[in-house]
Amino acid sequence: MSTPVQETLVLVKPDGVARNLSGEILRRIEQKGYSLVDIKLVQADRSLLAEHYAEHAGKPFFEPLVEFMESGPILAIRIAGERVIEGFRSLAGTTDPTTAAPGTIRGDLGRDWGSKVQQNLVHGSDSPESASRELALWFD
Ligand code: TYD
Ligand code: MG
Repeated sequence: MSTPVQETLVLVKPDGVARNLSGEILRRIEQKGYSLVDIKLVQADRSLLAEHYAEHAGKPFFEPLVEFMESGPILAIRIAGERVIEGFRSLAGTTDPTTAAPGTIRGDLGRDWGSKVQQNLVHGSDSPESASRELALWFD
């Protein structure tokens, strides 16, 4: 079976940056064996965020999500590795930090925010198509 080297987009969301968890999140990425390709701190504007989350436009959580993502700096990270797209999603854990598995970023570090599921520390692209679209948005 081939194991292609892929790239994916990771975002440390404003809650992760504000809680000084960027280093811990980078440590987990590096310990897993993924390589850092590019990294930058970004104050994202609404148009970038609306593009980034276009698949969720019109959903009830879209507006609070974009407002939260605008609320502070985001660390955007381009990483590479074999099967890194699904690999990073696995490191991140499932969307809701309350029920994300222990051992994952969201499960270990995410707080029980009740209705504030958007504050789940990280974003990771969910497919090769999403990864190339999102990397172009944040890095090109
Ligand atoms: P989604 O792409 O479904 O999750 P993931 O980040 O795990 O790929 O949703 C994007 C973000 O929107 C998610 O990280 C948190 C937020 N969100 C909510 O606030 N409420 C919800 O019901 C869902 C599904 C997501
Ligand atoms: Mg998603």
